Parts: sequence; C-alpha cells; structure tokens
Amino acid sequence: VERTLSIIKPDATKRNLTGKINAKFEDAGLRIVAQKRIQLTMAQAGQFYIVHKDRPFYGELCEFMASKPVVVQVLEGEGAILKNREVMGATNPADAAPGTIRAEFAESVGENSVHGSDAPETAAEEIAYFFSGLELVG
Ligand code: GTP
Ligand code: MG
Repeated sequence: VERTLSIIKPDATKRNLTGKINAKFEDAGLRIVAQKRIQLTMAQAGQFYIVHKDRPFYGELCEFMASKPVVVQVLEGEGAILKNREVMGATNPADAAPGTIRAEFAESVGENSVHGSDAPETAAEEIAYFFSGLELVG
C-alpha cells in the first residue's frame, strides 16, 4: 500500500480547519497513519522546500511555513500520492476543482492550506524527514 506525506499549512491550522481537512482525506479512502502538530523553524521549512530555493517566492514560502504550527501527517491507501493530489486540488485555488481542499479552504496560491508529496521518491524522503519508523502505525 502506498504512503504520502501531507502537511496542513499555517493558514489552515490558524483557522481551525484541521478536522474538516482530515475528513476530506478519510472520505476519499486515505488513512491517517501518523500525525503530529509542530512549529517549523525557518531552517526546517527552508530545507523541506529546498527544491524551490531559486524560485522568487522561496523566502515568502519559508516564512509562511514557519509562521504558525503545521500538522504533518502520513496518508496511506491505494495510489495515495495521486489520490491525495486530487483531493488537494490545483496549487492556485482559483484553478482548483470544486470540492477539493484548496477550492474550499485555500486563501491564495501561496497560502493554500495543504502540501502533498508529488512522486514516490519525494514521498519517501518527505516521510523520513518528519517521522521515524516507530511513529508509523499502519
Ligand atoms: P506543495 O504540495 O505545497 O508542494 O504544492 P504544489 O506541489 O501544488 O506546488 P509547488 O510544488 O509548485 O509549490 C510549492 C508551494 O509553493 C505551493 O504549494 C505554494 O504554497 C507555494 N507557491 C507556489 N507558487 C507560488 C507563488 O507564485 N507565490 C507564492 N507566494 N507561493 C507560491
Ligand atoms: Mg510541490
């Protein structure tokens, strides 16, 4: 069974949307097999999003991710990586399909409520960045 790393971002934790977002995952058949609320430092946010280091929004993105607590979680299910991307919706909420998390909750292209891994290799790396094997209870 596939696993993917999800982050409920500061704009969503701030507005008390964790439960509503988790309901979207569970309704889609994704199981939350690990979950914790943490406050990222700038350095931790910067390392997590290091692939975007040359993009113009990198600094803004890191400051946002470190601005308030996030909920990091591991979602499990058949085709979990792609399924989660579908449930999340497009990066820009203006382009996100109706019923998706970003269509319903995201505030802007930057403050877009959730992160999800985009491929098997990045999912494995991102899960290992936040969780030890002992914390993953399928
Ligand atoms: P993630 O699941 O968070 O990786 O989103 P994504 O895969 O849909 O988008 P991408 O990896 O291209 O960008 C990563 C994150 O950078 C996005 O989710 C946004 O939070 C942020 N971001 C992307 N484009 C912009 C932008 O034009 N402006 C700002 N401020 N942030 C952006
Ligand atoms: Mg991405």
